[in-house]
Amino acid sequence: MSTTESILEEPQAFLPHASVAAYAAISGMDAYRALVAEAERDYPAFWARLARETLQWKTPFSSVLDESRAPFYEWFRDGTLNASYNCLDRHVEAGNGDHVAVIFEADDGTVTQVTYRALLERVCRFANALRTRGIKKGDRVVIYMPMSIEGIVAMQACARIGATHSVVFGGFSSKSLNERIVNVGAVALVTCDEQMRGGKALPLKNIADEALAMGGCEAVKSVIVYRRTGGKVAWHEGRDLWMHELTQAEEGTCEPEWVNAEHPLFILYTSGSTGVPKGVQHSTGGFLMWAAQTMKWTFDAKRSDVFWCTADIGWITGHSYIAYGPTAIGATQVVFEGVPTWPNAGRFWQMIAKHRVTVFYTAPTAIRSLIKLAESDPKVHPDRFDLTTLRLLGTVGEPINPAAWTWFYEHVGHSHCPVIDTWWQTETGGHMIAPMPGATPLVPGSCTLPLPGIMAAVVDETGRDVPNGQGGILVIKRPWPSMLRNVWGDPDRYTKSYFPEELGGKLYLAGDGAVRDEDTGYFTITGRIDDVLNVSGHRLGTMEIESALVANPLVAEAAVVGRADDTTGEVVVAFVVLKGKRPTGDDAIAIANELRAWVGKEIGPIAKPKEIRFGENLPKTRSGKIMRRLLRSLAAGEEITQDVSTLENPAILDQLG
Ligand code: WTA
Repeated sequence: MSTTESILEEPQAFLPHASVAAYAAISGMDAYRALVAEAERDYPAFWARLARETLQWKTPFSSVLDESRAPFYEWFRDGTLNASYNCLDRHVEAGNGDHVAVIFEADDGTVTQVTYRALLERVCRFANALRTRGIKKGDRVVIYMPMSIEGIVAMQACARIGATHSVVFGGFSSKSLNERIVNVGAVALVTCDEQMRGGKALPLKNIADEALAMGGCEAVKSVIVYRRTGGKVAWHEGRDLWMHELTQAEEGTCEPEWVNAEHPLFILYTSGSTGVPKGVQHSTGGFLMWAAQTMKWTFDAKRSDVFWCTADIGWITGHSYIAYGPTAIGATQVVFEGVPTWPNAGRFWQMIAKHRVTVFYTAPTAIRSLIKLAESDPKVHPDRFDLTTLRLLGTVGEPINPAAWTWFYEHVGHSHCPVIDTWWQTETGGHMIAPMPGATPLVPGSCTLPLPGIMAAVVDETGRDVPNGQGGILVIKRPWPSMLRNVWGDPDRYTKSYFPEELGGKLYLAGDGAVRDEDTGYFTITGRIDDVLNVSGHRLGTMEIESALVANPLVAEAAVVGRADDTTGEVVVAFVVLKGKRPTGDDAIAIANELRAWVGKEIGPIAKPKEIRFGENLPKTRSGKIMRRLLRSLAAGEEITQDVSTLENPAILDQLG
């Protein structure tokens, strides 16, 4: 039985709407299967074709995939190109300079539009300014910016001169920012005076000053500041420079630096199993090709679309589907500075109506929290807004539960927009497993099938395929062009984390569990299999939070686990042993608040534990290993049914429960 036929029998399967299928780049399952077969037939030829079709190369590549240094794969290595040229100049040269590139809506609702021609000019001025400051190809520039046109300009300007950017999410603390600046060896920092979110100003420049003062940042010679609010900031003469003053003095054209396809376009830090975040290093050619190709396949996006991805440029989604993907295909996109719940929870729906958004891409957490608010206040219910321009919806970052999926489908998509559940990661650079809107029958809760060319599979602990219907470890069997190239400065960690010996050393280990449907082969992601939590779609390492907690002078020991949550997917629960005596009552509340604030300072507010429980000890085996699965059960409020006979101190469970 073919995939399409068998899924038709599933009561909850949603077939592509005729109108969507007719318009789609991949129309019908036969077209999808033909692409899958093309990739299987001649893997390098398939990718070479896409890379030639989606990008404009300065010098064409002759080598497609070089596996001689596996797992350090190289794609299109002898080709040269420039990412910013492909995202901007290309469209202006084709006569589309007046097409709107970005519709920016500020926190207070003010709207600014910028065309491709204007965006190119701004990128060129800023690129020239970076060059004037001595920044050149291969240098690293950290960008600590709010959602803004200027943030995109900064990223594209780095790409234009061959500098490698590393964007740090504006919600990270000065300590996290410092660690990233030091690790990446930045020579410049681009930031802004203050960030506006939900009517509140956050002093990014002050935080950046603190980060730079913590030491190890001596290489940072330029701090370029975008003036957003005009709020008061401290100024270090000679080092600090206003973005608008620098760019005024520069020309509006700038010859791009033609780089090798493997040249690192950016480094983005993400959480892993240890206390230290990893700098995920991406290439120029492979990354950009896939950002553009997935825009066309997964979102079926065209130049005429008004695309809106609500992610932040500080995360991978904001790299692939704000800064690069939409511009690479010349589409119009909405960029939003604020938050979905301010001034009220109708903000997203109101903005979709106002800007006539056609493709809307957001996170399950946002949907779940907006459902709650809409159900309790009809004024902010999507039914109240004109959402008729929408033709496609997408989700990312965490599993979407069928109830939220269905609400999104019915109330936002009016039962005719496909909901595209996209599974991917910082490391994968772009979508990996997702439905094709004009082809794949949708099943709520499943990200369905791999994109053509992506060899996803479910295996056991030894790397052997498991049959459909049986859970296992999600892997990718062959390298693909947009995969990460390295962990910045730590090739050993790259190999060990992503191509572990236990699986044979050749499979890419995603760190997620998955199961495939027995009939359809559809993938359902069952969550992380490592010590990484997913809170509101943000990746957090339990070890990172534990290291932050034990850095507090009061704390002797800490263990952090996740607990399932209806809205945010997971919440952080910390079990803490103090150096002094175990606090109770008001003392416990006060110390818990102090520790929460501490974690906010050490990492950022997103990492604050929702709950902190104090014990005289933690449940440990006789060999001293913390039994995390017991802590997970305690956090969930479950009765302990597991075997506790190996536990050194079983009585501790009562104290922590
Ligand atoms: C999770 C975000 C289920 C997963 C693009 C993955 C998902 C991690 C989905 C990567 C999805 C992302 N369904 N889980 N559609 N998308 N995840 O690096 O655990 O911030 O490994 O990249 O988010 O998070 P990251």
